[in-house]
Amino acid sequence: MISYSNSIVTAAVLLAVASRGSCQCQNSTRTVAISATIPFGASQKVDPSFPGFAFEQASFYNYSFDAQGNPNVFSQNLVNAVLNRTGGTPLLRVGGTSGDSGNFSSSQQTPTNFPADQFGPQFKGGVTLGPSYFDAFKNWPGAKFEFMVPFKNTSHSHTLKWAATGVDAIGIDNLYTLEIGNEPTFYPWFSKTNNTAGIETYAKRYLSLQDQLKQQIPALDDKRIFQALDTAANAATKLKAKPAFEMGLNAVATSIRQVGFHYYQGHPGPRTFAELQGWIRHSVTVENMTNFTPNIRYLRNNHPAIGFAFTETGYNVGGGGGGLGNNLASALWAVDFQLYGMTANVSRVNWQQILRGSLHMWRAVEADGLPPAVTPNYYSQPFVADFIGRSGQTQVAPIDVDDDADGTLVAYGAYESGKLVRVAVLNVDLWTPQNCTTRPHVGFTLEGLPNTTTQVQVHHLTAPDGALAEDGLTYAGLQWTYENNGVEKQVGKDSNVLNVNGGVVKFPVRSSSAVMIVL
Ligand SMILES: *[C@@H]1O[C@H](CO)[C@@H](O)[C@H](O)[C@H]1NC(C)=O
Ligand SMILES: *[C@@H]1O[C@H](CO)[C@@H](O)[C@H](O)[C@H]1NC(C)=O
Ligand SMILES: *[C@@H]1O[C@H](CO)[C@@H](O)[C@H](O)[C@H]1NC(C)=O
Ligand SMILES: *[C@@H]1O[C@H](CO)[C@@H](O)[C@H](O)[C@H]1NC(C)=O
Ligand SMILES: *[C@@H]1O[C@H](CO)[C@@H](O)[C@H](O)[C@H]1NC(C)=O
Ligand SMILES: *[C@@H]1O[C@H](CO)[C@@H](O)[C@H](O)[C@H]1NC(C)=O
Ligand SMILES: *[C@@H]1O[C@H](CO)[C@@H](O)[C@H](O)[C@H]1NC(C)=O
Ligand SMILES: *[C@@H]1O[C@H](CO)[C@@H](O)[C@H](O)[C@H]1NC(C)=O
Ligand SMILES: *[C@@H]1O[C@H](CO)[C@@H](O)[C@H](O)[C@H]1NC(C)=O
Ligand SMILES: *[C@@H]1O[C@H](CO)[C@@H](O)[C@H](O)[C@H]1NC(C)=O
Repeated sequence: MISYSNSIVTAAVLLAVASRGSCQCQNSTRTVAISATIPFGASQKVDPSFPGFAFEQASFYNYSFDAQGNPNVFSQNLVNAVLNRTGGTPLLRVGGTSGDSGNFSSSQQTPTNFPADQFGPQFKGGVTLGPSYFDAFKNWPGAKFEFMVPFKNTSHSHTLKWAATGVDAIGIDNLYTLEIGNEPTFYPWFSKTNNTAGIETYAKRYLSLQDQLKQQIPALDDKRIFQALDTAANAATKLKAKPAFEMGLNAVATSIRQVGFHYYQGHPGPRTFAELQGWIRHSVTVENMTNFTPNIRYLRNNHPAIGFAFTETGYNVGGGGGGLGNNLASALWAVDFQLYGMTANVSRVNWQQILRGSLHMWRAVEADGLPPAVTPNYYSQPFVADFIGRSGQTQVAPIDVDDDADGTLVAYGAYESGKLVRVAVLNVDLWTPQNCTTRPHVGFTLEGLPNTTTQVQVHHLTAPDGALAEDGLTYAGLQWTYENNGVEKQVGKDSNVLNVNGGVVKFPVRSSSAVMIVL
């Protein structure tokens, strides 16, 4: 989580590109050549655990327990509905700024002094957790955790108790990573000095706290189990992997399993339809990713066993600013962001959940007078999971659709054992029924499928009301609701079978929708 103030700059940048591409009423066509065998430069194998989740400190308790204090089966089902599509282990990151500024009290009866259904994340002074908070780790069968412990303070007695209580509740075998600290560039001891000195101090303190943690919890010793950096989204160029490892982390590199960066598409959120179009444009995501890719390259070349993850991720940060979001458009952005991330060799993405926020994928219990609900952003995840599939062998490559100017048409191929198995095509041109009465489409002609393929299946991620829809979203005709306890339900039939002739298949991709072709 971050709260900084650059919304004026953001708005100006977004408006500059907003006039292009948005809301064409005309249909058009496009012929795209695809390779039936894996092209050069395709991604690494995508981890079946790629689609992960993250929970802000206090919110985690409410995502884990329902209002009766029983395990929150609604949350469990929603997590399972994603990960059982890939066969991956659910990886759940728990932490954030409020916890990093937090305290632990062994005598506090309540799980947290700032329950998330009444308060947002507490930045000043942070939250205090009592031992019962850690029961929240016991309700996620089959999951593993990326567990943050506070690092901001210069004295660590509370951190050691927090860590020991947490690891005990989680169980060492279910601990994916122990994350030391969150968004360090915001710490006074980092920010009140120059960047080089800040990174040096970071590395020195990281080593020292890691050492104390290993002494406190001997099971951590000799394991590749720690997480490092967790750099804030707006600080990607300030705390990078290369200098952090070279200035100290190299000494403990074999203990580090994952390097985390945080990613929010922007702050605080788009306020107008035109800004929304700019916000979700593929070209914006591509440009943003250039801040992160040097870290991926550095790790691959120097520490190939260490993964690169976006451990706290969302469409917006800072409360949403009363803007537009958590609708079909932001769900489509989340699909594009993840598929593009796969092509850039991102290991995984943990999607942030804050009970009273505007960016979450579901509201696990009642809050702000609103009932528990699946929110539109969730709909990206089953689509992404199906694109990854269950083989554990999937590699992803971008498909050139020659749309660089607008950044509204995007396509990706998924390959298993070198052979094309799925194609995703997105049309993020925003459409609402107020714009033109019939929803426009781009008629795609996809050439180059294997000659042996005679039929493909096609699934859609869409909503009748278009880009701003907050209800009525479906993926493959499926819906997820609180009423059905987060278990998928077939409500429509818009999946169909298409004939392929000589490696060519034709299909429309309507504005504000995504299509998946399954070979
Ligand atoms: C676009 O195609 C749809 C479906 O074929 C059709 O109903 C609609 O009239 C077309 N729109 C325009 C502006 O031609
Ligand atoms: C991703 O990793 C693969 C090797 O696993 C490599 O061939 C490819 O070039 C990498 N892609 C990028 C964008 O670095
Ligand atoms: C949310 O969690 C707090 C504990 O932090 C608990 O007291 C409260 O009852 C929970 N709210 C709901 C609606 O379950
Ligand atoms: C995946 O989990 C959901 C929700 O629990 C369940 O409805 C579905 O049957 C499961 N699918 C598989 C393949 O296990
Ligand atoms: C942290 O909690 C302990 C009780 O465990 C308390 O004595 C101490 O004052 C707290 N520190 C802060 C800074 O809140
Ligand atoms: C932070 O460190 C100071 C000493 O530097 C200590 O007095 C304070 O209690 C610590 N805060 C917490 C939450 O432990
Ligand atoms: C950064 O700060 C450190 C320690 O205060 C100092 O030694 C160093 O010269 C500074 N570097 C720059 C480039 O200002
Ligand atoms: C993405 O780009 C937008 C627009 O330039 C910018 O406001 C935002 O901070 C960027 N986000 C990241 C994570 O780089
Ligand atoms: C499209 O519709 C939205 C609201 O539904 C409106 O804000 C926007 O200005 C419209 N755009 C055009 C180009 O008509
Ligand atoms: C499909 O068959 C045509 C004609 O026989 C051939 O030119 C083409 O290379 C084949 N394509 C694939 C992907 O096998």
